[in-house]
Amino acid sequence: MNIWGIIWIERNKMTDVLVIGGGIIGLSIAIALSQKGANVTIVERDICGRGATWAAAGMLAPEAERLEGDLLDFGIRSREMYPQWIASLMRLSGQDCGYWCCGILAPVLEESDRQLISEHPHYISREESLKRQSDLGKSILGSLWLPEDGQVNNRKLAQALLTAARLLSIKILEGTTVYQIGRDRDRVTHLDTSAGKLQSDRYILATGAWTRSLLPLPIKPIKGQMLSVFDGDRKLQKVIFAQSCYIVPRQDGTIVIGATVEDNGFSQGNTASGIAQLLNKSISVYPAIADMPITETWWGFRPHAPNEVPLLGASDFKNLVLATGHYRNGILFAPITAKLITDFIVDGIDDESIDLVAQVKT
Ligand code: FAD
Ligand code: GLY
Repeated sequence: MNIWGIIWIERNKMTDVLVIGGGIIGLSIAIALSQKGANVTIVERDICGRGATWAAAGMLAPEAERLEGDLLDFGIRSREMYPQWIASLMRLSGQDCGYWCCGILAPVLEESDRQLISEHPHYISREESLKRQSDLGKSILGSLWLPEDGQVNNRKLAQALLTAARLLSIKILEGTTVYQIGRDRDRVTHLDTSAGKLQSDRYILATGAWTRSLLPLPIKPIKGQMLSVFDGDRKLQKVIFAQSCYIVPRQDGTIVIGATVEDNGFSQGNTASGIAQLLNKSISVYPAIADMPITETWWGFRPHAPNEVPLLGASDFKNLVLATGHYRNGILFAPITAKLITDFIVDGIDDESIDLVAQVKT
């Protein structure tokens, strides 16, 4: 290849922003940046949306998840952004995302817990719980009714994001692994990838549970096993979020049941005990599950960060922005993450100490 060939290839690979990782976080940021006029490329080693994004239950549940302090504000703000975010995505992609403000029942199973929680403004008795959702298990003594928590079908959402990204002419390099981030002092110079060297003005790290393979950041995988059953009667119309399992009914009759929480590295596969635990717990809170056919089992890796707070914003490199560590709530946190990271880049904020999570107040 002559020198002009090399220059042409390098120019062809230039882009304003290069997003590493095509999960919900990378896709959402890429779309928001593209809508602000940036020229965006996503580099994804697999197929976009097949990491934790695909494995999740899709609950939008800052309250049921019992987030606290700044993180609760962050989650509530993102939940509030959801209706408009989904409407805009549906307009862009022409695809449904299974967004459903169905509310969440968080049952109380122990008498001692019931006494502790009975003064809570969202507490309802067993009888009132049964009015919200029939056929609850006898173990349920009462519950918290959280009408503003809900769900989205995370797999449909990922598909819609990918379609929208393509329609916005975002360049998507699937099947392309980033091996190494090339650096010179406080700047990223290029990425070494399975498709060769890639260069950009800015880089965004959205690699979820696999972040440590590229930078020594405190992110670790926390495995979650899941399964689904099929409810031909479609009687379950509320998410049930119990202490050690949750049950998420989709509008097509699929019921998603999750999830184990395993600090076990990237150990692959479902285990008999993991699935048995989920089945036993879910049948005790919603007995009709016992007769439903199992339709799928799967697992995924949540990107855990210290204090369960995502790493967002400045990194040790002036042109690399972090968007990782969304742990149990990355589906919920996607709209606000996309907005904050886009504002951070577009406004050119240089303050490394700015805490993007804490700056959100409801
Ligand atoms: P991912 O979706 O994992 O995407 C990261 C991407 O980066 C992957 O596609 C990966 O292939 C790619 N990548 C990594 N390294 C490289 C590399 N070197 N080169 C190129 N590409 C790379 N959240 C909720 O809000 N509600 C829920 O109900 C919920 N339930 C969950 C249930 C389970 C079992 C699990 C596992 C998670 C759940 N979550 C939930 C959490 C949520 O799924 C995650 O927080 C979210 O998906 C993180 O998104 P992400 O884009 O950062 O990561
Ligand atoms: N947010 C549900 C889970 O991570 O299992």
